[in-house]
Amino acid sequence: MERERWKSQLGFLLAAVGSAIGLGNIWRFSYMAYSYGGGAFLIPYLTALFTAGIPLLILEFGVGHERIGSAPLAYAKIRKNWEWLGWWAVTFVMFGIELYYVVIIGWCVNFFLLSFNLGWGNDPNTFFFKEFLQLSGTPAEVGMIRTPIFLAVAAVWFANWAIVYRGVAGGIEAANRIFMPLLFLLTLVMVGWALTLDGAREGLAAYLKPDFSKISKPKVWIDAYSQIFFTLSLGFGIMIAYASYLPRKADIVRNSFLTAFINSGYSLVAGTAVFAVLGFMAKSEGKAVADVVSQSIGLAFVAYPKALSIMPAGNLFGAIFFLCLVVAGISSSVSIIEAFTAAMIDKFGLPRKPFITVVAIIGFCGSVIFTTEAGLYWLDIVDHFLTHYGLVVVGIAECVLVGWFFRLDVLRRHLNRISSLQLGPWWNFCIRYFVPLVLGVILAGDLYNEVTKAYGDYSWTALILIGRDWVLLTLIAAFFIASRPWRTNHLATKGRAES
Ligand code: ALA
Repeated sequence: MERERWKSQLGFLLAAVGSAIGLGNIWRFSYMAYSYGGGAFLIPYLTALFTAGIPLLILEFGVGHERIGSAPLAYAKIRKNWEWLGWWAVTFVMFGIELYYVVIIGWCVNFFLLSFNLGWGNDPNTFFFKEFLQLSGTPAEVGMIRTPIFLAVAAVWFANWAIVYRGVAGGIEAANRIFMPLLFLLTLVMVGWALTLDGAREGLAAYLKPDFSKISKPKVWIDAYSQIFFTLSLGFGIMIAYASYLPRKADIVRNSFLTAFINSGYSLVAGTAVFAVLGFMAKSEGKAVADVVSQSIGLAFVAYPKALSIMPAGNLFGAIFFLCLVVAGISSSVSIIEAFTAAMIDKFGLPRKPFITVVAIIGFCGSVIFTTEAGLYWLDIVDHFLTHYGLVVVGIAECVLVGWFFRLDVLRRHLNRISSLQLGPWWNFCIRYFVPLVLGVILAGDLYNEVTKAYGDYSWTALILIGRDWVLLTLIAAFFIASRPWRTNHLATKGRAES
């Protein structure tokens, strides 16, 4: 079987940027900047970007391109007994992160529709938690499925299916060629508009004025590294699969820097709109900017709707804001499905179209639990465990595998031969020592917090059954799939540096 290909390097770049820019860029980044000292937060954020984000992105693109395979195939070609690592990444991301990520996009679809008549009324907080989510008391009280969320989730799964079904160039690349320019245009309109609001200046001052006292706390640094991981889709297996669809000659290093800079640049620009609106709201309510948001999730679904209700033509502004989230979200969610699909096609030679149909149906069924009245609790717990343990462990393991069991210099020479920017030995140092060390410290800190205090005040039973077991089940599934025989001969082909 001929491996699928991007039509052009620009198409690849747009798809990688589409995967990176997602829900995380708009409200997660803004909320972090908001709570962690405004402009001062850029210090840990940019440090994390340069010391871990970019080196790992180069590594993932490099491994996918050189080994010509999805995560499990690429790792198996390095060391056969590390195949499980690739399976684990694509499995917990597909049957974990993706399942609730689509549900958050579903909320955004609902809020997009609600925007037109400001359907959240005068009290967006009560609306969001009591009417929209109808949030129950504990994770065990699952209650009923929320129909508006369920329907939106069905629509989002359908959109995902329709895109990935058409393949790499005809589906993902074609969709991102429309999505990315559209997203940038909508975001620019939103930023331009937000800056004209009364109070925007105070909002921006809160965004950009550095409060250095905040960044002395280790938690801020840990969160900055986690944010960089999530935002660049690292440890998801996505960037490996995407780079495997590139031709022999591809400017990997330059594309890594471009992906990282466009992604972070987008966060910074979108943050301007978010803060200008918060400034506007603070001014109209006579409060300080620091007092208008209390929770990360509340930024998009409570504070923003509140501001939209009092803004001139707020309904149109709201529609643009939630449409941005939907577009950014879908271009990321298709990349997650592709990482898993690529892996299954590589190993079992499955035909894409029927396979992707089955995956979308199973994924949709899996998302249903997050559309129930306890959905937000489940989402919060699964997200906490998978992003804190899944992604970070994969990150450490891939540094160890590629840094220590693979000839890193061969990979670097390969990248330097095909790239316009040359990688120096600093990259080897980052991959072999620095990144695994930093991630190891983060993991140790997280584990310490985990056992000393129940996350989010949930019961231990809920945390163990939902969070820990989700991690373990996907790990067991990964070992199982890795133990199955290969039905294609991909494993026999060498990497590009050796052939
Ligand atoms: N990189 C994607 C995001 O930031 C997953 O949402």
